Amino acid sequence: MNDTLNNSSLADNAVNIFKQPLQGGDGSVVTILAIESSCDETSASVCRDGIILSNSIATQSVHEKYGGVVPELASRAHLQNIVPVVDEAITTAGCSLDDINAFAFTQAPGLIGSLLVGAQFAKSMALAMDKPLIAVHHMRAHVLANLIPTDKPAFPFLCLTVSGGHTQIVLCESPLQMKVIGETIDDAAGEAFDKSAKLLGLPYPGGPLIDQYGTNGNPNRFAFPEPQIPGYNFSFSGLKTSILYFLKNAGTSTVFKESFTATAEERQLFIDENMADICASIQGRIVSILMNKLKKAAKETGIKNICIAGGVSANKGLRTALQETGANLGWKTYIPAFEYCTDNAAMIAITAYYKYLNQDFVSLHTVPSARAAW
Ligand code: KG4
Ligand code: ZN
Repeated sequence: MNDTLNNSSLADNAVNIFKQPLQGGDGSVVTILAIESSCDETSASVCRDGIILSNSIATQSVHEKYGGVVPELASRAHLQNIVPVVDEAITTAGCSLDDINAFAFTQAPGLIGSLLVGAQFAKSMALAMDKPLIAVHHMRAHVLANLIPTDKPAFPFLCLTVSGGHTQIVLCESPLQMKVIGETIDDAAGEAFDKSAKLLGLPYPGGPLIDQYGTNGNPNRFAFPEPQIPGYNFSFSGLKTSILYFLKNAGTSTVFKESFTATAEERQLFIDENMADICASIQGRIVSILMNKLKKAAKETGIKNICIAGGVSANKGLRTALQETGANLGWKTYIPAFEYCTDNAAMIAITAYYKYLNQDFVSLHTVPSARAAW
């Protein structure tokens, strides 16, 4: 991984491929049915010529009481949801299985049992309908969620992809050419949100709750440390530890002490009385860690088309910070609609569409992978 990138010529030579008509090679209509099942959302989407016609999502509430996703329960819920979700996606799109030119699925990364459900379903349909099969990388699809709206970023662009399992800065040169130039060396940004929320006694997934409770809080009230990590890489494990000590000391210190200063009752009282400011301060620090690395990458690559993606891009603080920083630094900023930030099949469908144009098909023997290489 380079510490710095001097790639300003990329930005100077930016080519907007969207000036060309987006059609199948012979000008025909391309309709794709895509399935996403990598974690705890079962989703199906139909996309025609790069336009999303439907995006059905079934969320799995079964995990809430366990404080995290339980893989076996997720697989079972996918099995229950997949038929109605695919049916709804096709019906909403106003088409039938006969109209589908290719079937796509999330191949990796994710929970292997969950991935298997979507993969097998897509394969079965491809086999039955005698149509091509397209395998999609979940993290690449998060990046390409930015190509769903009509106002798309020109290439090259940078994308800060922030989800429950990943935190990456991706340099995207075309729909199928992208590379990770920075990533987390420990926890992901979404994990930092979720683990902080758990320390505050909030249910899983805690990210949206920290966002919600922190809305009217003061982000400068409590100062959590910012790690000094080289290059464009991130670290969030130190922040998590400092929040743990901060709560154990009822706000008096973010460092470990031989005997913590507060009793369990005092800690709880401190949390109850200061929830808004604690959440705003945690969110403020996570956002500043993300934005500082994004600013460094934008400056050193010379790229001013900047996107965010992934579940954490639904965060109000991050969305506002991106827009404000963009306005100050002359960036063109892009943020997917809320429904395309968290896991969804529309992003799989749009990625599959570009793969279709490139005739990038896979065989029925292709297997999903929990940790596929980028
Ligand atoms: O991309 P995603 O839906 O699933 C993965 O691929 O991981 O991301 C889920 C993550 C969770 O950690 C969740 O807490 C976080 O996104 N998240 C948020 C918000 N909405 C979702 N974090 C902070 N603020 C939000 N509004
Ligand atoms: Zn995701």
